[in-house]
Amino acid sequence: MMADMADLPSTEVLQISSSAPASEPLQQQTPDALLLHGFWYRALPSDRVSRHKLQKTLLLGISLVVGRDKSGRVFALRDSCPHRGIPLSDGQFDGAQIECCYHGWKFDCHSGQCTAIPSLTAEQAQKIRVDRIYAGSFVCEEHDEFIWVFVPEPGPAGAGFTRAAAPTEPLPRVPTFSGKFKSAYLVADLACNIDHGIIGLMDPAHGPFVHQAWWWRQRASIHEKQKNFEPIPNGFRMAAHTPSSNSAPYKLLQMYAEAKSITTTIDFELPNRRVETIRAGKYWFSSLTTVTPITRERCRIDVVASWNLFRWLPFAPEMLKFVFAKFVAQDQETMEMQAEGLKHNPHLMLIDDADRPAKWYFQLKNNYLEAKRTGGEMKHPLAGPVTLRWRS
Ligand code: FES
Ligand SMILES: [Fe+2]
Repeated sequence: MMADMADLPSTEVLQISSSAPASEPLQQQTPDALLLHGFWYRALPSDRVSRHKLQKTLLLGISLVVGRDKSGRVFALRDSCPHRGIPLSDGQFDGAQIECCYHGWKFDCHSGQCTAIPSLTAEQAQKIRVDRIYAGSFVCEEHDEFIWVFVPEPGPAGAGFTRAAAPTEPLPRVPTFSGKFKSAYLVADLACNIDHGIIGLMDPAHGPFVHQAWWWRQRASIHEKQKNFEPIPNGFRMAAHTPSSNSAPYKLLQMYAEAKSITTTIDFELPNRRVETIRAGKYWFSSLTTVTPITRERCRIDVVASWNLFRWLPFAPEMLKFVFAKFVAQDQETMEMQAEGLKHNPHLMLIDDADRPAKWYFQLKNNYLEAKRTGGEMKHPLAGPVTLRWRS
């Protein structure tokens, strides 16, 4: 039965593309999502890039060639020769420069600066400033198991490339609270656009239906929850609270600390970051999960977790990875089913309170883009602390 939207004050037609003004909600979901520039994004896990091979990847629809120089330092260039567009990843790399396979132009792997154009005669070489030619390059850093790339605002059309734009925000990090800890990461492609990937990540109501397992929780354990949220720059925080008593980490953590002393905090920040921190006395567990737009239609979820728990348990990293992998696989499978349904551009809705974080995400994104467009202050969707209630 189709409900009339006007009868449902606490539901909203899901405005998944923010290309229309906020006051004019789209009546249907569009297959692509707007992408946010001006942020660091995870491009690839560090261990997928070796010194010997140029690696191709896609980030926000930009095709990149990622590699390591002689000393192992990472670089990222646009995978397209500025001469006639051949992928630079098809060229030769000597550990410092990439030589295009079409006409042999050479580029510094870090700056993208052109260093040689073999077709020039001595006289022509006097007239053309080869060093003013650049292949597009990106500021690139390796941290917490990943190669991160800063994706700046796109330059004006036809402007060509110069040096890489400097990052306008610090590199995101997995929070850590002691000198010694262990880490693990997990990567999974999602068959949906960034917006569905992100609201899937912050959705509290799917847990009992999607993430059932005997060692995790049972569907019957569904109960009413109440969580406090507060605004943080570019996002919101689920304030420190005792973790859900029906979750496995909570049960495990009780082996380390008194139940009441265990707290968890979850932050969401634009463009795509979820940071969870669980603390139990001197023990802690934290994770930084990102949903990265690969193209407008596809995204990838990357989880990096660090912890100082279970150091005495030899298989702890494997166990944790297993739990995470299981979780992510369940989400992945769900999103594949969702992608099937979304092919036909159905009407969608967001309901209170379980989907309120999703509404905030869309508002944050719209307001961020609006502030960029007008040069004004970004309006925050949360005026102050808010309590949300749902059953999960
Ligand atoms: S296309 Fe690369 S050198 Fe001509
Ligand atoms: Fe999930």
